[in-house]
Amino acid sequence: MLGGAGVAALAAGAAGWISTAGSPAAGTTLDAGATREPLAPPAELTARDGRLQVELVAATGVRLAGRDTRALGFNGTSPGPTLRLRPGDELAVRLTNHLDQPTNLHTHGLRVSPQGNSDNPFLRIDPGASFDYRIPVPPDHPPGTHWYHPHYHGTVADQLFGGLAGALLVDGGPPLPVDDDRVLLITDTTLNADGTVPVASPAERMQGREGQLVLLNGQHQPVVSAAPGHAQRWRLINGCISRVLAVRLEGHTLQQIAQDSTFLPAPTPHRQLVLAPGNRADVVVQPDRAGRFTLLTDPYDRGTAMSGMGGTPPAATGSTTLATLAVDGPAATAPALPTTLPAEPPPAAATATRSTAFQMGMGGMRGGTGNTTTDALPMSFTIDGRSFDPNRDDQIVTAGTVEEWTVTNTGPLAHPFHLHVWPFTVVAASDGRPTTGVPQDVVLVPATGWVRLRIPFTSHTGRSVYHCHILDHEDAGMMATIVVR
Ligand code: C2O
Ligand code: CU
Ligand code: CU
Repeated sequence: MLGGAGVAALAAGAAGWISTAGSPAAGTTLDAGATREPLAPPAELTARDGRLQVELVAATGVRLAGRDTRALGFNGTSPGPTLRLRPGDELAVRLTNHLDQPTNLHTHGLRVSPQGNSDNPFLRIDPGASFDYRIPVPPDHPPGTHWYHPHYHGTVADQLFGGLAGALLVDGGPPLPVDDDRVLLITDTTLNADGTVPVASPAERMQGREGQLVLLNGQHQPVVSAAPGHAQRWRLINGCISRVLAVRLEGHTLQQIAQDSTFLPAPTPHRQLVLAPGNRADVVVQPDRAGRFTLLTDPYDRGTAMSGMGGTPPAATGSTTLATLAVDGPAATAPALPTTLPAEPPPAAATATRSTAFQMGMGGMRGGTGNTTTDALPMSFTIDGRSFDPNRDDQIVTAGTVEEWTVTNTGPLAHPFHLHVWPFTVVAASDGRPTTGVPQDVVLVPATGWVRLRIPFTSHTGRSVYHCHILDHEDAGMMATIVVR
């Protein structure tokens, strides 16, 4: 049993541990408003008898960072409820739009059909309207950590930055020696004094907005309680629209067991774990002694400072506190993790190759697109020289084949490449980083560099998208269509 006692002890001894955060300037300002609440899990909705039927209402007005705000939520909360499924279940969502702009729903990471009323990013649900999604999860779907968020082109960044996101878990996998299984959905946003979320400037959209508040399950710097000898599984989800997280837990090693939706071959220790927007990492934390340990994200340079785009050099901003791990009780060693995990076997060799390039150009969008977001930008965001057009087929792939893609980045900012429905294995990257050998669905493409991916198109057929998961860039046109048939 964990929880109650540790939290009470913390409240009593608060003065001593706040200072352990040790964050310089930027962190200090945020600390002033820290709520120090115990970490609260989002409401959880679990499938029964093979089906999870839920209503999600997207609307303004949620509690965020300990205050009542005009930010956005599902069913009145941000994040929305955690949806828990098993392979073979059907996810039935009635999405009701109480926003003042179109929206829709994407099940990021799920290997499900992109067609019809399944995970279809081309749908448009107008203000006041409802739509019934029916998303069958295949019986052989791998267990893992996924998430959901709106995906209506041109509004995605604003709606996620506003707070619309939730966790989506597929249960299963090996038994793990953990006493807690927690969702840690990390988002960032900025709140005006009146509780509204500010409109982004063109400069912010160009570099990709990073909010002043970094939140964990919608809470600002909550307290995670633990006891020595009791391990916890943390499902870290980077739901920030642009911020790359470089997560570190003081005094601990993060034992990574899964990347995005799939298990690694073995637990892998990290001092610091880098998560691009959209990435997930399941880690096991094994506290063995009492203490207060800060979970933080270190500065990460994605190119905004060097490229003359007005970003602050990362070194100047310092680390940002995400949470405090409060460990109480006599010292004890947590049980050992299994030495191997059920990783997917690597995909078959590729039979076709393909290249695609993420590009930022001067001069902005030529001609009015009618999209006020992109028309206001003095720079263009394109893939293979073209801005997103939902009616154009950009890549046509033969169903059942395995392809090797080279994704290049011609510009000075790193862009996270994301492909819906069909996860890929990273084969190599121009910066020489180690690769995991297991499927993932977001990978950072370094500035003026490339990544090489192996993609099995062996599951679903249909039409979907790939894009930059800096969602300001996606909304500005850095997205393309793909048809698998
Ligand atoms: Cu998480 Cu197409 O997005
Ligand atoms: Cu996605
Ligand atoms: Cu980008």
